[in-house]
Amino acid sequence: AEGGDPAITEVQDWNRYLGDGVDARPYGLPSPYESEVVRRDVPWLTADATSSVNFTPLHELDGIITPNGLCFERHHAGIAEIAPQEHRLMINGLVDRPLVFTMDDLKRFPRENRIYFLECAANTGMEWRGSQLNGCQFTHGMVHCVMYTGTPLRYLLEEAGLKSAGKWLLAEGADASAMTRSIPMEKALDDCLVAWKMNGEALRPEQGYPVRLVVPGWEGNMWVKWLRRLEVGDQPWQQREETSKYTDLLANGEARRFTWAMDVKSVITNPSPQAPITHGRGRTVATGLAWSGNGRIKRVDVSLDGGRNWIEARIDGPSLPMAVHRFYLDFDWDGSELFLQSRAIDEKGFVQPTKDELRAARGENSIYHNNGIQTWWLQKDGALENVEVS
Ligand code: MTE
Repeated sequence: AEGGDPAITEVQDWNRYLGDGVDARPYGLPSPYESEVVRRDVPWLTADATSSVNFTPLHELDGIITPNGLCFERHHAGIAEIAPQEHRLMINGLVDRPLVFTMDDLKRFPRENRIYFLECAANTGMEWRGSQLNGCQFTHGMVHCVMYTGTPLRYLLEEAGLKSAGKWLLAEGADASAMTRSIPMEKALDDCLVAWKMNGEALRPEQGYPVRLVVPGWEGNMWVKWLRRLEVGDQPWQQREETSKYTDLLANGEARRFTWAMDVKSVITNPSPQAPITHGRGRTVATGLAWSGNGRIKRVDVSLDGGRNWIEARIDGPSLPMAVHRFYLDFDWDGSELFLQSRAIDEKGFVQPTKDELRAARGENSIYHNNGIQTWWLQKDGALENVEVS
C-alpha cells in the first residue's frame, strides 16, 4: 500500500508504553480479543438453565486438549458448590469393609494421569431427523478432552474388599439430582479413575469439584460428578438414567439399553458455519476432531464432494486410546461450492456411518448415539451451512 502498512510503519501503543506488571492477573485470563471464545447454550432446548447443557466452542480450538473453562457443561440439577473438607466418598454394599474416604484420604492412593474424551450420549441428538443447528459448537460440542489426575477406581475397591457376588457398581453424585448409574464391575476394575484434577489443576465446579468418576470411552452420563457414593451389588439398579433416559427406542418399538461405549465419530470444525472462509480461494486448512470409545482412531478421510470421493487426512498430535484425535486436510480451494464431510475409522475397524445408514439401522426415534457423518455446504462466498446429502 502507498506509504506502507501502518501495522508496520507506525509505532503501536504496546510498543511505546510499559505493560501491566506480573501480578495484574494472578489467575490468567484469555486476551480480551478472544472474548467470543465461550461456551454457549441453545435456550429453547431446555425449560431452564439448571437442568441444561452448554456447548464447547470446537471451532475456536486446536490440538486435542480442551481448556478447562471451555469444557461443555451438562447438569441435571445445577452446579453443586462443595467444600472439599466437607466432602466424603463412601463405598458400601457387597464389600468386606464399607469405607468412607475424605479428599485427603483419596490423595494418598497412587495417582495416574490419563487423557480421555467425554462425550454426552445426546451429542448430535438434535440432528436425528434432519440438519438443524448451524454450527459444530451446537451439533457436536457436547464433547471435551482433558488430562485427568486421579486414582484407579480398582485401588479403592480393593481396599474395601469386593465380595465375589459383586458384579455391578452404582455410582452416585452429591448434587441435587443425585445422579446414579450402574456400571459393570469389569469396566470399574479395568480403566475407571476417581479423578480430582483436570489439565493439572483442581476440577472446576462445573465438572464435579472436588471429585468425579472417569469412565473412559463410555457415555458422559456415567461420569458421575461430585461423586459421593459407590455401592457394590449383584445386578444393575435400573435407575431412571438407564431406563427411561439414555436408551434408544428403535423403529420396531424395542429399546437398545446399556449402550455404553461411544461409537466412532468425527466432525470438521473449520471451516464450519461459525467459522466461514474469509480469505477467498487458494491455500486452505480444513481441520477437525475424531474419537472412538473403542480405542484409537486409525484413519480419517475427508470428502469435498459430499462423500463421492475421499482423501486421507493427516492426523497430528498424540494418538491416544479414547482421546480425541486432531486431523488436517491442507488443500487449494478453487472458490467453488463444496460439500465437506469427514469419516473416521477406529482401530477395531468400525467406520463412521452416513446418517442414512444410521437411520436405516436405528430408526428416527432416538436422541442418543448419533455418530452419522456431518455435511457442511461451503458456498462460493465462503459461508457454510449445515445440510444433508443423500
Ligand atoms: N453427574 C452428576 N452428579 N450430575 C449430573 O447432572 N451429568 C452427567 C454427567 N455426570 C451429571 C453428572 C451428564 S448427562 C454428562 S454428559 C456429563 O456429566 C457431563 O460432564 P461435564 O459437565 O463435565 O461436561
